[in-house]
Amino acid sequence: MTQINDLLANNRKWAAEVVQRDPEFFERLSHRQSPKYLWIGCSDSRVPANQIIGLMPGDVFVHRNVANLVVHTDLNCLSVIQYAVEVLGVQHIIVCGHYGCGGVAAALHRHRHGLIDNWLRHIQDTQEKYKAQLVGLSIEHEQHDRLCELNVIEQCINVGQTTIVEDAWARGQDLTVHGWIYDLHDGLLRDLDTDIGSMADLTARLKEKD
Ligand code: CO
Repeated sequence: MTQINDLLANNRKWAAEVVQRDPEFFERLSHRQSPKYLWIGCSDSRVPANQIIGLMPGDVFVHRNVANLVVHTDLNCLSVIQYAVEVLGVQHIIVCGHYGCGGVAAALHRHRHGLIDNWLRHIQDTQEKYKAQLVGLSIEHEQHDRLCELNVIEQCINVGQTTIVEDAWARGQDLTVHGWIYDLHDGLLRDLDTDIGSMADLTARLKEKD
């Protein structure tokens, strides 16, 4: 079992290894970051952004919250998107969910955990919206898996509907929103084929949903 002091020891070992491979690494990164990717993922400890996509510090700008939600009035998430798009100029926004998400499960089964139930209410809205296709799934874990996927797709649409992303497309900025899902059982990511790279893509995606 890891103790708190082990973390600091781990850090010294890691930093030394990085410098051994690339002596200028930290010096170079200390001047500026220029990540191409913004990752919006779940806070779940089993889904760490950098490790699962094999990227080093400096390569991906990260926002995580419980159940990878993009809520139109969440100033925290909106600020991250705005800074990533307008200041850092990222070209890709990846919304990454995962099967076995505790937030999705709690929303689906109406488990009460306290304050967080209000946050997870957004997932219940998605469940309600896609009720017809979810009730058609007889097996409980299939409903859960599908709701995890639908939640990612909904959040991709939410990203596309922010003024930040709409303005970026209007300026002609190269920016695509991707929806991915991670499987805890094999460590693999799956692309949900929900790329939105323009206002036309977003409109088509919204029509599809009706
Ligand atoms: Co989760």
